[in-house]
Amino acid sequence: MIKEVESLMHKYIAGVDPFALKLYENISCGKRLRAKLILKIASDSKEAVKLAAVVEMIHAASLLHDDVIDEAVTRRGTPSINATHDSKTAVMLGDILYSKAFYELSYFSSFIVQKISDAVTKLSVGELLDVTYSNSLQLDEDKYFDMIYKKTAVLIEATASSAALLAGKNIHAYGVYGKNLGLAFQIIDDVLDITSDSQKLGKPALADFKEGKTTLPYIYLYKSLNESDKEILLKLYKKELDNDEKKWIKSKMQESGAILKSIELARKLGYEALEAIEEDKSLDLEKVIKEMIEREF
Ligand code: FPP
Ligand code: MG
Repeated sequence: MIKEVESLMHKYIAGVDPFALKLYENISCGKRLRAKLILKIASDSKEAVKLAAVVEMIHAASLLHDDVIDEAVTRRGTPSINATHDSKTAVMLGDILYSKAFYELSYFSSFIVQKISDAVTKLSVGELLDVTYSNSLQLDEDKYFDMIYKKTAVLIEATASSAALLAGKNIHAYGVYGKNLGLAFQIIDDVLDITSDSQKLGKPALADFKEGKTTLPYIYLYKSLNESDKEILLKLYKKELDNDEKKWIKSKMQESGAILKSIELARKLGYEALEAIEEDKSLDLEKVIKEMIEREF
């Protein structure tokens, strides 16, 4: 089924412009979490493949723009479009994917059109918050959760509830499942930036703090440090780290329990996601949560 999603995306983009298709073919496809979720929730719906293609095109557009904003030269182990071409090309390819996705989205029922488009507005606000918070150390947990809800969880929430509508399932319960899955996904992403390596991640590791992003493990870490270690951490903020500084951050993250605490919260959100759909328990959706928490990239 995921192959059908890939070929529908290909068909949509081919129908727009051959150069856009050529550029699109340079993007590696990623985990396709959102598409898999739709196919698992609405496996019997004829519309599932279409919705999955639409959502994955929106997601791909958002990453093209995000790489321009973050000045990222790699994505999923391959050079980003802004690196192989330039930022203008990446922005325009993003616009093509995004607007074509919305054209195809317009054929769905108004609940789905409104859910997804409202999520994309929030996604953009989330990205704006991420950029704004990166200007100075942001240690407020509530602000972090609000930002990751908008930047990551809201589209997964809208995706899951839209798929539930297609399948005649409980829209609210699947929305809660998607929201918690999305929050846990972003927390694990933020943990992996610290614990994983560049090869596995397909992008530079330990990059968030250098980019000014104070993610949940950093918020927990800062709160647990004594005054002199707090000072050391503050000096490393937004700095190109040498090997000793990288080691210092990694060991403090483990010693203080900041990593474990973040993973435990992601696990708790994962359980809450499954609790929400308990009446309609599915091994497949349990697997999505487990694999997402235990992933290495
Ligand atoms: C990745 O975050 C970025 C996102 C999840 C959302 C980006 C959203 C936009 C650019 C706005 C919406 C735009 C369109 C065209 C729909 P990250 O930088 O923390 O993760 P990364 O390390 O994978 O880059
Ligand atoms: Mg980024």
